[in-house]
Order: sequence, then structure tokens, then C-alpha cells
Amino acid sequence: MTTHLYLASILHFTQQSNHPEDDYTYIHDGSMVTRNGKIIATGERKNIENQYLDVVIHDFSGQLIVPGFIDSHLHFPQTEMLASFGEQLLDWLEKYTFPTERKFAEPEYAAHIADIFLRQLYRHGTTSAMVYSSVHQCAADALFAAAQRHNMLLIAGKVCMDRHCPTWLQDTPKKAQIESAELIDRWHKKDRLLYAITPRFAPTSSPEQLHLLGELAQQYPDVYIQTHLNENLHEIAWVNSLFPKHNGYLDVYDKFNMLRPKAVFGHCIHMQEHEWQRMAQSGASIAFCPTSNLFLGSGLFDLKTAEKYNIPVALATDVGAGTSFSMLRTLGEAYKVGQLRGDQLQPLHGLYLMTQGAAIAHGLADSIGNLNPGTDADFVVLNPNFDELTTLRFEQHNDVQDIIFALSMLADDRAISATYIAGEPVYQTHTE
Ligand code: GUN
Ligand code: ZN
Repeated sequence: MTTHLYLASILHFTQQSNHPEDDYTYIHDGSMVTRNGKIIATGERKNIENQYLDVVIHDFSGQLIVPGFIDSHLHFPQTEMLASFGEQLLDWLEKYTFPTERKFAEPEYAAHIADIFLRQLYRHGTTSAMVYSSVHQCAADALFAAAQRHNMLLIAGKVCMDRHCPTWLQDTPKKAQIESAELIDRWHKKDRLLYAITPRFAPTSSPEQLHLLGELAQQYPDVYIQTHLNENLHEIAWVNSLFPKHNGYLDVYDKFNMLRPKAVFGHCIHMQEHEWQRMAQSGASIAFCPTSNLFLGSGLFDLKTAEKYNIPVALATDVGAGTSFSMLRTLGEAYKVGQLRGDQLQPLHGLYLMTQGAAIAHGLADSIGNLNPGTDADFVVLNPNFDELTTLRFEQHNDVQDIIFALSMLADDRAISATYIAGEPVYQTHTE
């Protein structure tokens, strides 16, 4: 069994923290050892190097190893429609999203895009993701099969929607329940794969469908749930008119038994006070998608209030309303959202929201999100000096907070030297 030793600076968050910007582990002359897909040691180079004989050495000196990024909300069938001009949420769905997702009825097409989608994740340093597929069962199968080939920890689900979308994209309450249950049986906890029950959002599911999906969720308490919530003011007015007996948008999911731990709600921009409170009690978490929220003109997420209520928040791209697969870029846009709100997002706090904080939100910190011994060897090698400009920039200032901040503004996939999943390289630029 080969043992691998990586030489680089190392940055991660070893535990849960409310102040990760003050609570990180940084080792300038660091070393990490992996064997059989797991991390077995992380520490000072001088302490570790001589303990392990007969190792394959990967010398990334001058570069920075961080945990693989976790993207907690994105849509794989929307890969090809990134950057579609001119609309806000509801018109954007009609004009671009539904016609694009129709193509995923074809299993070969879904398999083809699944490969492109995963390559995009890896080249941007993302090793785990929580993914919406299309309404078609075969597309979810294609995505899971592709992720399984890379031994990836992927959470995903078939979208369920039986109304207020084109008839050619609709399932039915029963079909959604049966096909989701079949997918759970086929994929949940197979290797590193996990399932998420995925009603698209309240307007596109009838009460009957929400009822059956809530039943399914109760039948499988360890399965994830993902959906959209309080993203756009027109969407919210629509939900209120469709569900007049409910006390707001969140209450729809609540009454149908979909508000619980391992439920991840995308966006949550326009929250009422009672919704923050109820969300906080429930153990559910929020996916904060800044590039999407700016692109669709949806609004500015209130991270400070979410954190005041101790609601776990994870950062996410929301491709294809999000405009980049890069979690570094996403972090940069999260900072700008904070600027517009008058709140300052510390760079290492942001890094936490895409690594350890996300893993904790999803109950997965025993295997991903950090570089602690015993976890899976999912990690990224960042090269801060990837071009003339960044080389100049880091000649002047080079403490680790500043490096992460500047990379969030200046970098994208160009800063990713290598991405490893379970100890195997899934992307490399040969700068080792
Ligand atoms: N709400 C319902 N569906 C979608 C989607 O595909 N993207 C976004 N951003 N919001 C949604
Ligand atoms: Zn989304």
C-alpha cells in the first residue's frame, strides 16, 4: 500500500468554530501524509518527514494545501447555460432553464454533460457538491455513475416538479416519490454517494407531491433534502398566493415535513423574523449563493443574521444562475455582498464556509472539510503565484489571510495546481 507525503504550506480548520478567522491551523513548512485514500498525518514538515520511510514524495513547496472545496448548491443540467442574459428568476426559468433541462431526458446526453460537469468541479478545486439533477431519473443515474467512477463524495437528487412548468418536464406526485425512492435504494450510501430528496421549489410542486415527498423524507431520516427558499420577491408573492393557509414560504416546507437537519435551503434572502427563528430551531442549513443572487438580481443574503441565529451556512455557486464554478470567485462575490450590506466577511471565515463549515452543516466533517488524520484525502493544492500579477501582488503582502483574500478576488481555476479525491489526483497542471 503506497504512502504519499505532500510538502506544502497547509491551511485548514480542525473543528467547529464561530470565529474561524481566529481559529485556523496554518503550517508554513507543512507536510501531509496519505495512505489508502485517507489522511494519516498533518503537521510540521520537520516532525513528520522522518517518521515515514518508503513514501512517494510530492513536493509542492511554496504552494498551499487546503481541504477540497464543497459547493453546497448547484444544478448539473445547467452547466451549458451559464451566463444567459437578461432575466430575473421566474422568466429565467421559463426562457433558459426549462428548455435546457429538457435535453436530460436522453441518458447519453446526461452522461456526456455529467463528465463535463465533474471536470469543471475538479479544475476549480471542488471535491464535493450538493447537486440538483433534472426531473429525469436517468440523468440522476448518469451523474451518480460518473461521480462513483471518481470515488467522489457527491450528494444529489432528481428534481421533482408536477406543475407550473412545461408539461414535458413534469412528473406526478406518485412518480416523483417512486423514482426518488428507487434512486435512494440505488445510490444512497453506495461508496461515498448520498441522496437528496429534491422538490425544485414550492411553486412547481403540488400539495400532493409535497405531501408524498415529506412522507419519503420521514421514511429515510438520514437522506438529505434540498430546495429553494425566499430567493426572489415575485417568487415569494407567488408562493403566498398558491399556499394562502401557510404562514409564509418556509412554513410550506415545514408543514410537509421537509424542515429538519440535513435539509439545505438555497438562497434565503428575504426571510421574515419568524422564519429565521423556525429555521434556527429546525437544524436545517442555508446555501449562500452570491454570484447567483447578484446575477439574477435576487438580493443580498444576510449572513450576519443567519450567524446570529446559529444557522449553519455553506457557500455555493448555484451554477447555472451562478456565474462561475470557482468557489474562490464565489468567495470574492460573497465579500462584495457583505460590502453592499455594510458587513465585512473575513477571508478565512469565507474559506470556512466552503470547507469545514459546509462539512459540519451537512454532518460530514468526519470525512471531508478538513485535513485531520482519519478523514478522506480530498484536498486542493493552490498556487498563489500563478501569473505575473499575482506574483507581484504576493511579493508585497503574503500572510495567509491576505493570500486567501487576494485569491478570492484575482483567482479562479488558474490558481488550482492539483485536486485530489480520496488520495487520487482528479486534476493536475503538472507544476508539482
Ligand atoms: N428556483 C427554482 N428553480 C431554480 C433554479 O434552477 N435556479 C435558481 N437559482 N432558483 C430556482
Ligand atoms: Zn438553485
